[in-house]
Amino acid sequence: MLRNSRESFGLVSILFHWIIALIFLGQIVLGYSMVRVSDFALQFSLYQWHKSFGFLVLGLSLLRLLWKLANPRPHDLQHMSSLERGASHVAHFILYLSLFVVPLTGWAIASTSPLQIPTFMFDLVVIPQLPMTISDTAEAFWASSHAWLAYLSAIVATGHILAAFHHHFWKRDTILVRMLSPRGQDRKEQQLTGSKS
Ligand code: HEM
Ligand code: HEM
Repeated sequence: MLRNSRESFGLVSILFHWIIALIFLGQIVLGYSMVRVSDFALQFSLYQWHKSFGFLVLGLSLLRLLWKLANPRPHDLQHMSSLERGASHVAHFILYLSLFVVPLTGWAIASTSPLQIPTFMFDLVVIPQLPMTISDTAEAFWASSHAWLAYLSAIVATGHILAAFHHHFWKRDTILVRMLSPRGQDRKEQQLTGSKS
């Protein structure tokens, strides 16, 4: 139940997937909105929330990666073409990479900014700045890299979400249910064989 099998994701991988996915998508909306807010006090507080949740994504993704390395990956469904398998592996790789690169470029903005505003993660822990050259040019470079990478990863995530819905509602296979519950695959297969007999 907790660990992955060759057939399905276990509870820990499922929780990691959904908690991180939810925060990541929330961060895109928060990031987009906070840079466009005109009230300074509100903007300052939104930036602190954005940085805190960003570090949460980074920390959870590190733990998720360790868990992934210690678990088997459920096999691809047999009916998938080699093109579909290749596309899904590339998309998953890009999404995993984004979970690290997007927060790290965000951290680089905070570290290179001449304002040197400290990051208090959820008002609990002070996150140190990265040892980087502090300048307006460096800050602008990392801000633009962070924005580009965040929006590009949002496009890949949108494709990923549409693909999951396509499998569930159009192909009616077990791809989505095995990411919803460790027993989802068995239940759906029982339903399918039940409805055929
Ligand atoms: C899951 C992780 C993250 C996502 C998806 C994300 C996404 C975004 C997005 C979409 C924007 C708006 C870009 C724009 O329209 O200009 C933004 C801005 C920003 N993010 Fe993040 N971010 C993440 C993590 C972080 C972290 C960890 C930090 C800092 C420690 C950070 C610092 C910033 C800052 C300072 C800005 C404003 C840049 C500016 O003033 O132009 N972000 N982020
Ligand atoms: C409504 C939103 C989402 C849905 C419905 C969804 C659905 C799924 C499904 C069904 C799988 C399993 C695919 C398979 O077995 O081959 C999966 C895997 C994955 N998803 Fe999502 N996802 C969503 C959002 C996200 C987001 C926002 C991210 C990251 C930013 C993400 C990253 C991943 C990654 C990295 C995997 C591969 C997991 C692994 O093999 O270890 N997903 N997703």
